[in-house]
Amino acid sequence: MAEKKQLRIGMVGYKFMGRAHSHAYRDAAFYFDPKVEPVLQAICGRNEEKVKEAADQFGWNSYETDWRDLIKREDIDLIDIVTPNYNHAEIAIAAAEAGKHVFCEKPLALNLEQAQRMLEAVEKNKVLHMINHNYRFAPAIQFAKKLIEDGRLGKIYHIRATYLQDWIMDPQFPLVWRLNKDVSGSGSHGDLAAHSIDLARFLVGEFKEVTGILETFIKQRPLVEDSDGLSGKASRDKVGDVNVDDASVFIARFANGAIGTFEATRFAGGNRNGNRFEINGEKGSIRWDMEQMNNLEVYFHDDEPGIQGYRTITCTEEIHPFAAAYWPAGHIIGYEHTFINLVVELLNGIEQGYSPSPNFYDGVKNQAVLEAVEQSSQTKQWIDIPDVIQKLEPVSKE
Ligand SMILES: NC(=O)c1ccc[n+]([C@@H]2O[C@H](COP(=O)([O-])OP(=O)(O)OC[C@H]3O[C@@H](n4cnc5c(N)ncnc54)[C@H](O)[C@@H]3O)[C@@H](O)[C@H]2O)c1
Repeated sequence: MAEKKQLRIGMVGYKFMGRAHSHAYRDAAFYFDPKVEPVLQAICGRNEEKVKEAADQFGWNSYETDWRDLIKREDIDLIDIVTPNYNHAEIAIAAAEAGKHVFCEKPLALNLEQAQRMLEAVEKNKVLHMINHNYRFAPAIQFAKKLIEDGRLGKIYHIRATYLQDWIMDPQFPLVWRLNKDVSGSGSHGDLAAHSIDLARFLVGEFKEVTGILETFIKQRPLVEDSDGLSGKASRDKVGDVNVDDASVFIARFANGAIGTFEATRFAGGNRNGNRFEINGEKGSIRWDMEQMNNLEVYFHDDEPGIQGYRTITCTEEIHPFAAAYWPAGHIIGYEHTFINLVVELLNGIEQGYSPSPNFYDGVKNQAVLEAVEQSSQTKQWIDIPDVIQKLEPVSKE
């Protein structure tokens, strides 16, 4: 049997997403038969002791303490960026210029200008690229896409999407990087609404115009001493200003005539990771909740009178996208499997020479919506998604 080509990965960052990505590469070939073999070649972080520990725990062959050294290495084919948003652009552009493929966490960048430069760099250097909007890869979401494409919902009228968390409600929770604009770009908006925007673009279509508000409830917090993903240790005596939004609320018109409402917040007590939406079309509706991610609720207007109503499909049957690779029907999968599914697409895309969606093109479109809402919050106006962005064509093979 011919040996598979290898894809040697260099990953920058090793905490929350570092673990999720490492796990996805390791399990991709366990469940699927990707066309290239991912090799965990080198992991990178600034603290040598900690990055070495991560390399050992996650199974990486080597480590670096400066991402520039990682990019210089000739034994790396793809750079995976799982750092906070402030250096996505610098790392991605340097990686593309060095001829490496790029896989980047969301949001693509701090702002639209950076995101556009990242797209230009990957296109100019002819490297392949993808952005990690992993929720698209829940089987229930892929199945929702199929129902919509098959016309089962007819013309789409509404999407109402909420992404609700509550992990910073305590005013003593420290000023972690997600609350510092220079590092994150925005707060719940770029962190959470970016995912809802991606799901809306995937399932409904392109945004045309938006208007919304961003709000910061707690204006000062203790400085942070150490942080990891969504947790952090507070300083006892030093405080700093919060300069990002705690909540973002906006409404949108889509190019196809649908309208949408969006709410992203870290102040929705009782909601840990409430990524949810409902879509209503002329022939039916669907709704989904990340915390019940295997289920898709569907409603069809043409069901027999008297038994009409939402029904729940557990998307674990062989017919459901990605599901056959896992367990028998009804044996559910979880958060980490969305990463595995996406990584398999990435590996297959690279072998076939195209950038699977969502890629940097999607990242730019997403960033344009984020930025338009921010602008609207300042000007109290409706903001059009710029023509130049609306006209951008996908680079991926659909
Ligand atoms: N797709 C998703 O659902 C999802 C979920 C969480 C986070 N994210 C995104 O993933 C990215 C990382 O978030 P996280 O939660 O893993 O953060 P984190 O704080 O847990 O980890 C960040 C990592 O980046 C490293 N880092 C920071 N600056 C660096 C530098 N200059 N050089 C090398 N390493 C550096 C840190 O040491 C750490 O290992 C962000 O862009 C975030 O928006 C996406």
